[in-house]
Amino acid sequence: MGEELVSRTQVGIVGAGPAGLVLGHLLHREGIDAVVLESRSRDYVERRVRAGVLEQGTVDLLIETGVGERLQREGIVHHGIELRFDGRGHRIPFDELADGRGITIYGQQEVVKDLIAARLDAGLPLLFEAEALGVEGIDGDEPTIRYRYEGRERELRCDVVAGCDGYHGVSREAAPAGALTQYEREYPFAWLGILAEVAPSTEELIYAYHENGFSLHSLRSPSISRLYVQCDAGDELEQWPDERIWQELHTRLARDDGWELEEGPIVERTIAPMRSIVTEPMQHGRLYLAGDAVHIVPATGAKGLNLAVADVRVLAGGLVDWFRSGNERLLELYSATCLRRVWQTQNFSAWMTAMLHRYPDADDYQLRLQRAQLDYVCRSRAAAASLAEQYVGLELAQTKSSV
Ligand code: FAD
Ligand code: DHB
Repeated sequence: MGEELVSRTQVGIVGAGPAGLVLGHLLHREGIDAVVLESRSRDYVERRVRAGVLEQGTVDLLIETGVGERLQREGIVHHGIELRFDGRGHRIPFDELADGRGITIYGQQEVVKDLIAARLDAGLPLLFEAEALGVEGIDGDEPTIRYRYEGRERELRCDVVAGCDGYHGVSREAAPAGALTQYEREYPFAWLGILAEVAPSTEELIYAYHENGFSLHSLRSPSISRLYVQCDAGDELEQWPDERIWQELHTRLARDDGWELEEGPIVERTIAPMRSIVTEPMQHGRLYLAGDAVHIVPATGAKGLNLAVADVRVLAGGLVDWFRSGNERLLELYSATCLRRVWQTQNFSAWMTAMLHRYPDADDYQLRLQRAQLDYVCRSRAAAASLAEQYVGLELAQTKSSV
């Protein structure tokens, strides 16, 4: 791109994850200029394997805004999940309990690929290997992103900066000391996730509670399975050779009726920590934070990606009103509007995590409480409906926006 690089834009977006890319896409549809800066290469972000469960609201947004064509073709719609414990499976039927809403299985990196292709095809600015070094001037009218690109330090002057740079990003640090408050929980366990080249042994996702620890059978396609096992917080991949992974999966997912888990070559593996974090408020001056840059949920509820998309939908609505008519009301409500969903989702993710994982210090009392919870969710229609409506995505009344 050389010297013709843009140095002034309306919205400077740090990070080309789901939050930054969806925001750029929504703004473009409303005629608002944005530049997206991403520290990694295109290849890296398109291969980064992460989440795979899209809520109905996320799917609807992508389809309605013209980036859901492949998602509609390749995404796999599910209308239930299975909770498995004591060797038995219990289906939570979303079709009956969540007003017909469901979830779609479609890898996060596929969403990212579709959004990158749409942005580049439209000739819109998206720079890879462009690392933001800091955000300055957020208390004034022209916040600036300092970044490094092609070996040189550069500046992007903006009306507004959107910090969509994930948990390890730099934009959150632009807020002055004491302006933001962080609420957090660490969990004494992590998830080891694998992709295996084998047809899924299940049609619907299985969340399994077992004395050895939690495990999850998910999928990506008719020939690729996605599986997770709870491991210790400090575990390294070397401690988990293939045989151990499969052995734990067989043990934890076992069902009395002879159901079998098929094995296949493991083509990807990562250990992801489990934590809950919320940073409040989600905005300071002309800096708006979205997605993992301001909140993290433990993966058990499959919410991280969906929450990131929900944030930027609200942000785009506020920015459109402000740029079009100078009306700042929605932007002022950005943090409060988002935090309602954020805390509902924190609650759901923490609850699912507590119910399904084996805590290293759990005593018999706590184990019996977990059983009682699982039993209740599987027996009570009201409890199952509560899980279902949160899993498919809460429909919170949102402040009206034009996007
Ligand atoms: P991100 O996707 O993290 O995007 C942020 C982007 O900013 C990245 O591309 C990053 O490279 C870029 N960036 C960072 N710093 C800079 C900088 N200084 N300058 C420029 N760019 C920068 N959720 C689930 O529901 N289920 C899962 O199984 C699951 N697995 C996960 C595994 C891992 C290892 C991680 C980290 C997360 C996982 N999540 C999962 C959570 C989910 O993927 C995230 O919630 C989601 O990616 C949030 O999107 P985002 O756009 O806010 O952040
Ligand atoms: C997947 C990830 C999750 O965190 C989850 O709760 C369910 C499924 C997945 O990667 O498919």
